[in-house]
Amino acid sequence: MPGIVLIGAQWGDEGKGKATDLIGTKVDYVARFNGGNNAGHSVVVGNESYALHLLPSGIINPHLTPVIGNGVVVDPEVLFQEIDGLEARGIDCSHLLVSEAAHIIAPYHRTLDKVTERFLGKHKIGTTGRGIGPAYADKINRVGIRVHDLFNAKHLHDKVEASLHQKNQMLVKLYNRRPIDVDQTTDELLKLGERLKPYVANTGLILNKALDEGKTVLFEGAQATMLDVDHGTYPFVTSSNPTAGGACTGTGVGPTKINRVIGVSKAYVTRVGEGPFPTELFDESGEWLRAQGHEFGVTTGRPRRCGWFDAVVNRYASQVNGLTDIVLTKLDVLTGLKEIPICVAYDVDGERHDDMPTDQAAFAAAKPIYETMPGWDEDISQVHDFDDLPATCQAYVKRLEELSNCRISAIGTGPQRDHIISVHSLID
Ligand code: GDP
Ligand code: IMO
Ligand code: MG
Repeated sequence: MPGIVLIGAQWGDEGKGKATDLIGTKVDYVARFNGGNNAGHSVVVGNESYALHLLPSGIINPHLTPVIGNGVVVDPEVLFQEIDGLEARGIDCSHLLVSEAAHIIAPYHRTLDKVTERFLGKHKIGTTGRGIGPAYADKINRVGIRVHDLFNAKHLHDKVEASLHQKNQMLVKLYNRRPIDVDQTTDELLKLGERLKPYVANTGLILNKALDEGKTVLFEGAQATMLDVDHGTYPFVTSSNPTAGGACTGTGVGPTKINRVIGVSKAYVTRVGEGPFPTELFDESGEWLRAQGHEFGVTTGRPRRCGWFDAVVNRYASQVNGLTDIVLTKLDVLTGLKEIPICVAYDVDGERHDDMPTDQAAFAAAKPIYETMPGWDEDISQVHDFDDLPATCQAYVKRLEELSNCRISAIGTGPQRDHIISVHSLID
């Protein structure tokens, strides 16, 4: 019953799409368990490049079954756009399964996301504007709309009415906007439900049966550990649990069925949106990393903030997720640097912290304590054996491994499928 969880170990965009695609060739199911179309996962196959937002990246592999679990928030309009876009490129999406218990992102969630950010002003989170936070807020407030609600007109109308009752008061009185019409919204959602119906299934049951039959399920996380609503840099986080535990609640599979937890980390760090980021670079090194690594968001196109590898973050990710393996990506991007700093600990008001401070004010004040390693100039993109990497490059990877409290099992040396060095098998 191999259940493999794959999560982001930093602040997102670590290369989860590529890592999923890599393992996807050997698994039977790939299930998304959290987030929605705030995610942007890139997969590059030959000359083709795909940007997946709501669909699991595994959908590119025709032999596996892609699943959207109950923990995902589904914007049906976006889902159909994505399906249509992929099918036009010859990717069959007809075998997609969508949990009947997943929550829906309705048009009013997108509206609320944008007006709330504007209202927060300098306190804004820098969200993707996709309605993620408001949809999860409704779920927790127990006024959310779930996939199976779309199939009963009367029931749906009641739910939309209940959900919009308070929101319309807020939109009109607080945000000075027009109220949202209940009948029109219900009709729109009913139409979307008709198209969604063939994909809808009891995905929890299907995944559990598959695991019991010895099939392999890969649980593909979106966002990342430091964006987790419980374990990340709250309040500058997303509204779901991208950490490994979220794979269980977000699909209905118990923790005893998971035997591998793979964390994906870049060989440096990036972040999009607001919030503290101790190793962030504001000088030409940051510009250099952004240019070399093409660090611009797949979802919003925003330039990503860039900084050196933060071992405190990675140790924390190992702890929170119970990592068994790390896939280290974008090592090639560092080629050409004379020296590479690694943040090994933080200085918070003169006190050394080797572990993640739990107090967000302390984290915001954390200054990186760096150790510096020599760099390399050789092109590593065609290297397929760890021993063939330049000695200084090997030493850099070994040091990251030591500092992260977890073995590095694969190393990305470029965006393509074959730009990879396998050190330990990720699937057995
Ligand atoms: P995700 O959100 O974690 O799936 O990551 P994104 O797709 O948002 O961003 C990662 C970017 O890095 C994508 O453009 C990938 O094609 C690219 N990428 C992934 N692994 C590597 C690697 O090892 N080297 C290089 N140069 N690019 C990579
Ligand atoms: P992938 O899966 C990087 C960030 C946003 C913002 C915060 C909250 O591609 O790694 P939200 O719209 O979720 O309410 O925004 O989270 N964010 C991401 N940053 N990669 C992502 O996804 C992200 N998804 C959300 O920039 O700071
Ligand atoms: Mg991304």
